Amino acid sequence: MINSLRGMRDFLDNDGALYERVVGVCAKVAQNFGFAFIETPKLEETALFRRSVGESSDIVGKEMYEFSDKGGESICLRPEGTAGVVRAFLQAKLDKAGGIKRWFYHGSMFRYERPQRGRQREFHQFGIECFGISDAREDAAIIILAKRILDELGIKATLKLNSLGNKESMSEFKTKLESYAKGCANELCEDCARRINTNILRILDCKNEKCQALLKDAPSVLDSLDDECKKDFELVQNLLKNAGVEYELDDRLVRGLDYYSKSAFEFVSDEIGAKAAVIGGGRYDGLISELGGKSTPAVGWAMGIERIMEILGAKESAIQRDGIYLCALEPAFIDEIFALGCELRKTHKVEISYEAKAPAKHLGAADKKGAKVFLCLGSDEKAKGEIWYKNLENKSEKHIKISELKGAL
Ligand code: HAM
Repeated sequence: MINSLRGMRDFLDNDGALYERVVGVCAKVAQNFGFAFIETPKLEETALFRRSVGESSDIVGKEMYEFSDKGGESICLRPEGTAGVVRAFLQAKLDKAGGIKRWFYHGSMFRYERPQRGRQREFHQFGIECFGISDAREDAAIIILAKRILDELGIKATLKLNSLGNKESMSEFKTKLESYAKGCANELCEDCARRINTNILRILDCKNEKCQALLKDAPSVLDSLDDECKKDFELVQNLLKNAGVEYELDDRLVRGLDYYSKSAFEFVSDEIGAKAAVIGGGRYDGLISELGGKSTPAVGWAMGIERIMEILGAKESAIQRDGIYLCALEPAFIDEIFALGCELRKTHKVEISYEAKAPAKHLGAADKKGAKVFLCLGSDEKAKGEIWYKNLENKSEKHIKISELKGAL
């Protein structure tokens, strides 16, 4: 028996339907905000992620599926979507062309993490990226967009919001934080002690309780913001308030990827274990020039689709009944319902049963398939030129003339 790899899974039956539903809702809302579909390869040069996500991040340091191809080139299964979309933007020379690009994408991402609840090695993201707008209104717009998606899916999550400032204010903050952390370096956990020299920001989101206590009085990134960053951050907050989007300020939110500046945010839910992020993102104005392009502002986020599916899967209402289950009680009628089913399939989703069975067995099968409508041809119906109709959602039943069926559906 060959099984799927550890931390990788199949989407069967309800999972497949749920995946399609989540992506469908996300795409529809994103399109309303002006985003268009983009697809980029799942394999990229390793250097792309080293230079964008950052050498000092856990993703690059520990989690990449990185290997040499048959030509000896170092390639990598994408651990996230942003870097590939930025690469596509640069390759098409859209940085030179100027203007605005808004794209959404979805698909597999790969991180060699320890598999656990809400954390797989192959997982799926729905993400959006906007290039060419420095106006903080776009930061607010994409957060509102994320909230609309969560609302439409019926998911409650807390929005945590921070500003990481620009290059100058970040560098000032890092110096302050470093000198604070050095003062208690001997007491910090091993990881944090190492991070003082490699990735000082990440000590702020260390889960170790002792580190958290030691860093309680650490400097706040918000105190280092310059006037422009402060003004932008206030604008984002005001626009969110006006849109009725609640948020919590969290000056410890630093994100696990190195490319962020200014707005950084996460939507966290406690429905999948201890406060896991279902959406994370922010502004990354420096990344495009970092990768060799003409300096272009950018902002975006990505959602963990499995995490959303796990929350939805626990709610019965998430599984929506859909389509028709068409069947017969006598073997002699099967060819007739086959022809009828093929006709109905021009406009409806129809499952045709090729077996004659007792009504209860057919009803059970229709229920299992998640059909919304049950249509059945038995001897009595056949004699009257009718079909037995049952709505499996509200349980109403009637007989409909086959000649009038299309209109009645
Ligand atoms: P990220 O925070 O690394 O950001 O991932 C975004 C989301 O992907 C997380 O909030 C989580 O829901 C999901 N996720 C991450 N790792 C796993 C995993 N191992 N298993 C299941 N779900 C996971 C990014 O990837 C950025 N590219 C987001 C972004 C786009 N920033 C700007 N634009």
